[in-house]
Amino acid sequence: MSFSASRIAAGFSLDQVSAEFRVPAATVKSWEAGTEQPPAQVTNSLEMIGRMSLLESSPGISPRQAEFKAIRDEGPLFKSDKLIKSKQRVADHGEVFTPPWLVEKMLDLVKGETERIDSRFLEPACGSGNFLVPILQRKLAAVEAKYGKVDFEKRHYALLALTCCYGIELLADNISECRANMLDVFAQYLRLDEDDELYHAASHVLSLNLIHGDAMTMKDADGEPILIVEWGYIGKGKFQRRDFRLDVLTGMSSFREERTLFAHLGSHEIFKPAESYPPMAVRELAALDMVA
Ligand SMILES: C[S@@+](CC[C@H](N)C(=O)[O-])C[C@H]1O[C@@H](n2cnc3c(N)ncnc32)[C@H](O)[C@@H]1O
Repeated sequence: MSFSASRIAAGFSLDQVSAEFRVPAATVKSWEAGTEQPPAQVTNSLEMIGRMSLLESSPGISPRQAEFKAIRDEGPLFKSDKLIKSKQRVADHGEVFTPPWLVEKMLDLVKGETERIDSRFLEPACGSGNFLVPILQRKLAAVEAKYGKVDFEKRHYALLALTCCYGIELLADNISECRANMLDVFAQYLRLDEDDELYHAASHVLSLNLIHGDAMTMKDADGEPILIVEWGYIGKGKFQRRDFRLDVLTGMSSFREERTLFAHLGSHEIFKPAESYPPMAVRELAALDMVA
């Protein structure tokens, strides 16, 4: 879709695009005329907004659309401190956070999965958790609906929900914030304080699942291959841990194609864990957090 068509579908004037994306009016005019190409972030955002507007165009106006319109009418979408930290970081790392209303809309596209306790989500550029936090909240709502009345089950299925959330993030401060935000949501739901073993078990899981690294090279901050921990709840308070290399797992997508790096491998080789651990209870997971 051309820039002009995306802009009109999103309901933006040229001036609004200039304000929203903080670019000079002359630049927007050159995008409109087709003499320059806008960055992917601009076209993707406009196309997404256009699709959302279309979905919500009838009948009437939803609360989310009203919220969006209010933000849009007030001024630049990206003026909020929550959406950018600094211009330099936007330029260096493309660090523009997704606004909450848009996150919710996108998650609604896979609503069933977000509300399944053991569905796994990996956010390869997770920032401080704008997607992962609401995913966890949705999963915890499912835990509450199913196990809310039985404390043992509630605590363990909540931990299972947490173990199914994964993120990779390049910047150290963002991944620390992401871990803290996720732990906060988890602890608040279960009313945990820092003396609780479950609090430390969750902290240990987050230290493994939320990875400080580069999703493009699939290396962690120490230059080692990124490991994805597969957690399973095997009942009676025990969790099973197996580690897999991300670069090997992603090779699975081209597994069936000929002449790929992984074509000669059988699926049993791709699904061979780099490491397997004996089942662990919350107390054992918590102990690993204490030593870290
Ligand atoms: C556009 S922000 C989006 C953050 C979050 N996903 C959101 O929607 O709010 C992109 C994030 O990806 C991180 N990032 C950029 N390149 C990356 C890479 N190669 N691997 C992991 N994270 C990366 C940036 O540091 C930044 O926090």
